[in-house]
This record gives sequence, C-alpha cells and structure tokens, in this order.
Amino acid sequence: MKTILIQLDTDAQPSTFDRVVAVDAGTDHLFSYGGVTPDNLTPLVHGAIFTRGPQDLSQTAIFIGGSDVAAGEKLLENVQSTFFGPMRVSVMMDSNGCNTTAAAAVLAAARHVSLSGARALVLGGTGPVGQRAGLLLARQGACVSIASRSADRAEAVCERLREQCAGAEITACESAGDSLASELSQADILISAGAAGVQFLSTDQWQSAGSLKVAVDLNAVPPVGLEGIEVTEKAKQHGDVVCYGAVGVGGTKMKVHKAAVQRLFEANDRVLNTAEIYSLAEEIG
Ligand SMILES: NC(=O)c1ccc[n+]([C@@H]2O[C@H](COP(=O)([O-])OP(=O)(O)OC[C@H]3O[C@@H](n4cnc5c(N)ncnc54)[C@H](OP(=O)(O)O)[C@@H]3O)[C@@H](O)[C@H]2O)c1
Repeated sequence: MKTILIQLDTDAQPSTFDRVVAVDAGTDHLFSYGGVTPDNLTPLVHGAIFTRGPQDLSQTAIFIGGSDVAAGEKLLENVQSTFFGPMRVSVMMDSNGCNTTAAAAVLAAARHVSLSGARALVLGGTGPVGQRAGLLLARQGACVSIASRSADRAEAVCERLREQCAGAEITACESAGDSLASELSQADILISAGAAGVQFLSTDQWQSAGSLKVAVDLNAVPPVGLEGIEVTEKAKQHGDVVCYGAVGVGGTKMKVHKAAVQRLFEANDRVLNTAEIYSLAEEIG
C-alpha cells in the first residue's frame, strides 16, 4: 500500500521546505493543505482516518507545520482529540523546524559534554527553538539558564519548562549585562537560539567564558549569534570550545526530520513532538 503524508500547514501556503523533506523521506503521496485552523481541521482528519481500514492506517500520517509554532501546537492537540479508538494515524509537529532544530542542537552538545549535571545557557531561550532546547537539556539532567531581553519573559518560560520537567534546575537570566556575564562564566554549554540576524556575543565574550566546552549557534543570518563561529562549522575547535554554526547543525536537523517522517509510517499511533523527536535524534546519532 502507498504511503500518504497529509501536510497540514497553518500558513496560507504550505511550506515548500517541508514538502521537499517529505518527498526525500520517500513518501509516496503528499497531500498539502495551507491555512489550516482548528475550525477547518476536522474534515481533513476525518478524511485521513475514515478511508483506509484500521489495519492500513499506519500507511497514512499527518505532518503539522507552518511558521506559527503556537498555532502548530494547538493544531496537534486538535488533531489528537479528533482521533478515537483505533481510528487514528501517526502525527508529527515541526512548525518552523522547532523540534528538529532543537533536537539537532542538543544532540550536537551531547556529543561533547555529558548533559547530566552540565550547566547550559540558552540565549534567545524564549523562542520556540530555545524553549525546546532548554526543555531537552533539562530533561537530560542539565542545569539550564534561559536568557531573554526581558527577565519576566525568561521567568515565564522557566515556569512552563519546570512544569514539564519536575525537579529540574531551570533559571532565568537577562541576555545582557551582569546576569548574562555570571551565567556565561559558569556555562559548559552555550546554545544561541536568538532571532535571525541577532548577535548576542562577541568572540571575546564567549571565548573568555572559563568553563565553556560547546557552543552552538543556530542563527544563519548575518550577523551570526556568536561572533566568530562560521555558519558551516561542525565540531570545529576554537581553543577549548567545540563549535557548531547553523548550517553545521542543519545536516543533523535534516537527517532527523527525514527519519521522523519515515518513522510515522511504522505504526498508526505515533505522536512525534519535542521529546519523541529528540529520542529519534539520539537513536540515529
Ligand atoms: N537551521 C535550521 O534549520 C533552523 C530552523 C529553525 C530555526 N532556526 C534558527 O534558530 C533560531 C531560533 O529560532 P526561533 O524561531 O526560536 O527564533 P525567534 O522566535 O525568532 O527568536 C528567538 C528569541 O530571540 C529573541 N530576540 C528577538 N529579537 C531580538 C533582538 N533584536 N535582540 C535580542 N534578542 C532578540 C527573542 O527573545 P526575547 O524577546 O525574550 O529577548 C526571541 O524569543 C533562529 O535564528 C532561526 O533562524 C534554524
């Protein structure tokens, strides 16, 4: 039986990026829908679950994407609540690449530092990618600091992450000034997940951080987030620090995205969100 991936995108135009990955992952047929909202979702999900018999539903799956990550999360909830009993298909959420990018960034760090007990600083930690990277690091036992220009925004994110990872040490910090300098001086892992084109630290600033072992910059748009790390760098040593640029991490991100799409067709009840996508990333390395 042919595999069918149903792409539900919250943007008006379904993402060409996600479509290319779906094809490269070997999906036989891709049905792409744009402008998907909770209000027009139900018939699309019913069309997915009521056509093939329950024994064949593993060959149909749903991918949720689009630039609005909060809208994607909401759609994921709605898709799942439309399923009942055996009438379900596997579903993956990766709006704006948030889950695959966070998974690839944390995996890059984990190649060089044992995450359990490590201190990790996430710059731009209030964004969708930063929040997910923070959560994954905390779940692996790291002490995580979430940085933002606003202490209140950072604290609000920390509270949400603590709810999802009981007992974890997750603290807020500001993305400039003494608060940042103090966190940076203790960090083993630095992940720069700020908006495109936002530079947080000069070369001197991150290179003089005493205990830093890995630095990952996810911003590919000049100026990069961590000055001096080229976008294509992959595990390049700068003194004692192993560095990754956005394109250097992107190879793993693409591998994880493709593998996750393929994984959807192994059963009809997979839900691939942040944790599941990271587990898959760990599996494939
Ligand atoms: N390689 C890939 O395939 C891939 C995929 C997805 C994303 N990315 C990259 O990963 C990074 C994170 O993505 P995202 O979607 O999470 O980012 P985002 O939501 O656009 O921004 C993340 C955070 O950056 C901070 N920020 C925004 N403008 C700023 C400014 N002018 N100065 C200082 N801080 C600023 C904001 O935090 P506060 O307002 O709280 O300070 C925001 O929450 C981006 O650079 C993105 O391009 C790469």
